[in-house]
Amino acid sequence: MMRFAYADPPYLGCGKLYAKHHPEALTWDDPQTHRDLLDRLVEEYPDGWAYSLSSTTLRTLLPLCPPTVRVMAWVKPFCSFKPNVNPAYAWEPVIVMGGRKRTREEPTVADFVACNITLRKGLTGAKPLGFSFWMFSVLGARRGDIMDDLYPGTGSVTMAWEAYTRQVRMFDDTG
Ligand SMILES: C[S@@+](CC[C@H](N)C(=O)[O-])C[C@H]1O[C@@H](n2cnc3c(N)ncnc32)[C@H](O)[C@@H]1O
Repeated sequence: MMRFAYADPPYLGCGKLYAKHHPEALTWDDPQTHRDLLDRLVEEYPDGWAYSLSSTTLRTLLPLCPPTVRVMAWVKPFCSFKPNVNPAYAWEPVIVMGGRKRTREEPTVADFVACNITLRKGLTGAKPLGFSFWMFSVLGARRGDIMDDLYPGTGSVTMAWEAYTRQVRMFDDTG
């Protein structure tokens, strides 16, 4: 059994988007809050973790990570294009550390996923099912593992984990 975490806090500089959802949302505008989180991930989740951020803050946040992390990408073929923002911001980095070692027989997972933003309304940054399934595969997560969804928001990642582990169970049962 392995224990993984997915950390999806308010992105650096975007605390105000969550001020009505959480009293300490603005603390995420300080890089130190992200440094503390990254230190916690390294300390508490040696099996592996993934951390979402924006492409504009990668320059600040990547140096706060251990040198062994990998930078992966969530590419959004359809996203909200805004007037006067050209080129559009249409991908997000995902920093990943660790994960289960794979055998040669296992399928290879790409270091990017292309999937559209969720149509779920109400919370900026809710993650779509395709993103979550890809992130679980990147970590090599399996039924019986623990996936701590540290900033659940809509709960979509936790719901996806339940679906993912059910799917793996169906596979196991049918051979
Ligand atoms: C990017 S959203 C998470 C979206 C989630 N992954 C989803 O798919 O719905 C960040 C969440 O962190 C919450 N949050 C903000 N500040 C926080 C804090 N200091 N401690 C814990 N959660 C916080 C926000 O209210 C929001 O629900």
